[in-house]
Amino acid sequence: MPKLILAYSGGLDTTTAIKWLSVEQGYDVVALNIDVGKSREQPVVESRGIAAGALKVRVIDAREDFLRYFAFPALAAGAVYQDQYPLATALARPLMAKLLVDVAHEEGATAVAHGCTGKGNDQVRFDVGIQTLDPSLSIVAPTRENAMARDYQIEYLRQHGVDIPWGEKGPFSIDENMWGRSAEAGVLEDPWNEPPREAYEWTRETEEAPSTPEYLEIEYESGMPVRLGGQDMGPVAIVERLNDVGGLHGVGRIDHVEDRLVGIKSREIYEAPAGVILHAAHRALETLTLSKQQIKLKKVIAIEYAELIYNGLWFSAHHQDIAAYVASTQRHVTGTVRVKLHRGKATVVGRKAVQSLYDRGLATYDRGDTYDQSAAVGFINIWGLQTRTQARVQLLGELPEALKIAMPHQQD
Ligand code: ARG
Repeated sequence: MPKLILAYSGGLDTTTAIKWLSVEQGYDVVALNIDVGKSREQPVVESRGIAAGALKVRVIDAREDFLRYFAFPALAAGAVYQDQYPLATALARPLMAKLLVDVAHEEGATAVAHGCTGKGNDQVRFDVGIQTLDPSLSIVAPTRENAMARDYQIEYLRQHGVDIPWGEKGPFSIDENMWGRSAEAGVLEDPWNEPPREAYEWTRETEEAPSTPEYLEIEYESGMPVRLGGQDMGPVAIVERLNDVGGLHGVGRIDHVEDRLVGIKSREIYEAPAGVILHAAHRALETLTLSKQQIKLKKVIAIEYAELIYNGLWFSAHHQDIAAYVASTQRHVTGTVRVKLHRGKATVVGRKAVQSLYDRGLATYDRGDTYDQSAAVGFINIWGLQTRTQARVQLLGELPEALKIAMPHQQD
């Protein structure tokens, strides 16, 4: 029988997929579980996969690679989709596509599969990634091809001798990894409904967060977080710690109506304490270490970067070009940011960098001023030259009109 590698979460959809792919499609299924952190099914993936008839279950701990090569570069770029979504799911998909293809090669498989529906972004990210990395692999998407209702899936498995206690269906559709959690569907489908407290799992209600603030010191080297509270820490430890402490203070809740690539608007609840804190701190460090032109262009690039991640174009030349620009901007983004966590907010309250462009001598209104105020007169003379010329040559008669637009109550 031909071999197929299935991206396997251990949930009902992909467990049903193992059986369906073997029975209806005639594949030998290798279930590949990619651990990007936070999966509640992690302890049971192996037993469930085997019970459902997988040839074997392979588990790859990809948490560190996920943060180092996917989430942190997006952080350095300032990539946040539609100013709200730190892209947790979107960043994990290309990593999963890559590992599916690698394992397919190792195992001599001719096909790969994932559990995405036909309505979302994830199918695009998987398919485009896989097709880019190895166009010879066939892609099967059981849920997209043959959506089965939950009861029917459980019944289908039972009929094939797979008896797993599935428990109650949760009220939402959830996806989680270390960079963030998303909840959609159920009562959240009405954008007018306030998310019920069960929609959140990583973060406390603001009112129930501690009344005393907590301070963090986060250090970055060339745009990458490397230390917390002066202690060297790996990416996994940093993000775990920030998720915990941020969640405790109710930081990182996002309620967003988002535009999917496939044209649907969808209401999403995200929790991303570490992502929200690290983005805020990183932006603050850039205010010290980048010039105003760099900050301005980088903002534009951040939008483009977020969209290419969201839209499944990770393995593209366009990404390579943008990543090279971003990496270049990060050469001097090294320093420390102090963040205050309190009642749902992460506020930057201090920042420092050895190669800071901030010059106290230039900025100060106190003694020790090194700025030559008399030079401002000549500067303004040149800066306003063209505007003055235009006013004299073209706008003279029109200036009172312009004034009316600015202050209509001052007519005549
Ligand atoms: N809307 C987010 C995205 O497109 C989250 C998707 C969550 N995925 C899921 N299969 N539930 O990245």
